[in-house]
Amino acid sequence: MRKKLVAGNWKMHKNLTESQALITEIRGIVRDEFRQNDAEIVVCPTALALASSARLVEGSEIRIGAQNVNENKEGAFTGEWSASMLKSAGVSHVIVGHSERRQYYNETSQACALKNKAAILEDLVVLYCVGETLEERESNQHFDIIKNQIEQGLEGITGEEMSQVVIAYEPVWAIGTGKTASAEQAQEVHAFIRSLIDSKYGQAISQAVRILYGGSVKPENAKQIFGMEDIDGGLIGGASLKPRDFFEIIKAAQ
Ligand code: PGA
Repeated sequence: MRKKLVAGNWKMHKNLTESQALITEIRGIVRDEFRQNDAEIVVCPTALALASSARLVEGSEIRIGAQNVNENKEGAFTGEWSASMLKSAGVSHVIVGHSERRQYYNETSQACALKNKAAILEDLVVLYCVGETLEERESNQHFDIIKNQIEQGLEGITGEEMSQVVIAYEPVWAIGTGKTASAEQAQEVHAFIRSLIDSKYGQAISQAVRILYGGSVKPENAKQIFGMEDIDGGLIGGASLKPRDFFEIIKAAQ
């Protein structure tokens, strides 16, 4: 049985004071209402709020994730931070290859492979994102695109290291648009991703790896999406900024 995981991606929202208020509110709900079988919870604030958020959730069920990491250990890389720096701030997870980073910062899957490796070597769990654009889906290229993103992004990652990898399938056309992939559309791609992991790493690893769905997940559609066989939770953008909605989505992922 794969334990479900729900991660909130705050993107570039909330200043430090607002972040502290939001994480405190989420922590309060989780403290009062979290039950043993509920999904694992990860919250990914901006880099500025990582260290204080990690302190605020100490002793709770909430883990803190970053939204990006540099592949180098240290050096002259202005504006960047390394996996060991994240770790020292109390971070345990990191999102790699989000479509916004691929689109606006030209991150390639090859670059993601280096980031994935660097994070794994510091014992972080990576949430490695893949997904096709609308154009790619409409021209029926989505399986090829995802196959490349998976193969290239996991280049150099060993079977053993796969225990620190979570995949997130996020069709770009469903992110922040209010359009969700149907549960069946998502399941089809999730099963495909699992089959790719199976061919590379074998059955035990492919059955253990968690594959999250992301793209306009809301309390209203979460249960149906998370009910599909190969969907092991979600990466939540907009709705993760609303503590009650976020917790309802966590509850839907049991
Ligand atoms: P959304 O974003 O839930 O706002 O669509 C998801 C994501 O980008 O991770």
